[in-house]
Amino acid sequence: MKLKKMLAGLLLAVACSGQGLAQATYQPSEENIRSRAEFADMKFGIFLHWGIYSMFAQGEWYLQNSGADRYEYAKAADGFYPHRFDANKWVEAFKDAGARYICFTSRHHDGFSMWKSDASAYNIVDASPFGRDVIGELADACHKQDMRMHLYYSHVDWGRDDYPMGRTGKHVGKDSTKSDYDHYMKFMNDQLTELLTRYGKIGAIWFDGMWDHDSDSIPFDWKLRPQYDLIHRLQPACLVGNNHHGSVLPGEDIQIFERDLPGENTTGWVQDGMQVSAQNPLETCQTMNGMWGYKVVDQNYKSVDAIVHLLINTSGKGANLLLNIGPQPNGELPAIALDRLKGVGKWLREFGETIYGTTAGDMMPQSWGAITKKGAVQYVHITDNAMAGQPITLALKGKVKSATVFGSGEKVPFKQAKDNALTLTVPQHAPITDYIIVLK
Ligand code: GLC
Repeated sequence: MKLKKMLAGLLLAVACSGQGLAQATYQPSEENIRSRAEFADMKFGIFLHWGIYSMFAQGEWYLQNSGADRYEYAKAADGFYPHRFDANKWVEAFKDAGARYICFTSRHHDGFSMWKSDASAYNIVDASPFGRDVIGELADACHKQDMRMHLYYSHVDWGRDDYPMGRTGKHVGKDSTKSDYDHYMKFMNDQLTELLTRYGKIGAIWFDGMWDHDSDSIPFDWKLRPQYDLIHRLQPACLVGNNHHGSVLPGEDIQIFERDLPGENTTGWVQDGMQVSAQNPLETCQTMNGMWGYKVVDQNYKSVDAIVHLLINTSGKGANLLLNIGPQPNGELPAIALDRLKGVGKWLREFGETIYGTTAGDMMPQSWGAITKKGAVQYVHITDNAMAGQPITLALKGKVKSATVFGSGEKVPFKQAKDNALTLTVPQHAPITDYIIVLK
């Protein structure tokens, strides 16, 4: 069974890459490699799921989950007027939270484009009374405030007939006899060209939706390599990521983990073993409450401590955290989300040195916390309050000269064995979220 699954994953990987083994190699450009390194250092970004689905206030899958007809659903566009949207204010709040980049949904599975697209009139400028180019305004705010801008782009479209129907979008009233993938691919590439030529530097294109065809009886050929190459031609430094829950395919630059830390597969979605790649920056995306798009009944937001711990554990795995917010239909960020951003920002202003620009520590995250590393320094984050006064043993790769408490510089006694295993006692007064021991 396991072997069968692995083989299926391998087949899928080859098919998905849209090419045989002959074209399988991908040599990223120098700009791209530089951009990967910059990205890997950023460690914290904000994901934004915002579109006309926000008005239904039941998450970004509303068209699919409600069983609505696509044309009835599309009428919402004519009532979309997010008069409180202020791109500069959003970016200010993200900046203050310590985020270094954002990833915004340019077009989600419902097919609505959040910029003035010539390739589809179903867009925020032409199809809504709001009439403002949201991506344009966000791009300006990001460029002005030195925030990197990534764009989410769905490979799935529940509204267009030319997108070959997968396992979703069956009840929306599409005409499957008009399915035409080459036509759809041209449409997507026209849109991507708009996004990559009109709004200045785009840090990454973040694809999603390949899971829609994961149950096809004949593996679906997404033919993505030419699309990836187009992106790299238009902006060589632009990173390509795809949320397909598998190992990186040729032409991709980022390895994405959805609601999961690298190597854990707690979701069970990882199909092909998902080898963690040393050449590709890693990114974990996670929701702040339980939903990506605004959901009025979900007020169950993670606490500041929980988010900080998530950031620590993600950094301890060498990955970035892309933390999601679902903005409201009126264009504001939910007050609870803003409160959490403030808390994370406060923590990062004090302890950011132990997160930004770090890689995974010598030892992977443990129940007591995680270790990050920068050059010859390792930061041991104790996040479990019950560890106060308790001994911990760290499997390290080198000799330690000093162990001190971050901030106060107080010395922490330690013993190191021949095999470099280091034992220390967590001081009694270790506070909750932010007890960090610096090892040199
Ligand atoms: C899943 C969801 C999609 C969401 C994405 C974010 O693919 O289907 O709605 O945008 O995750 O990671």
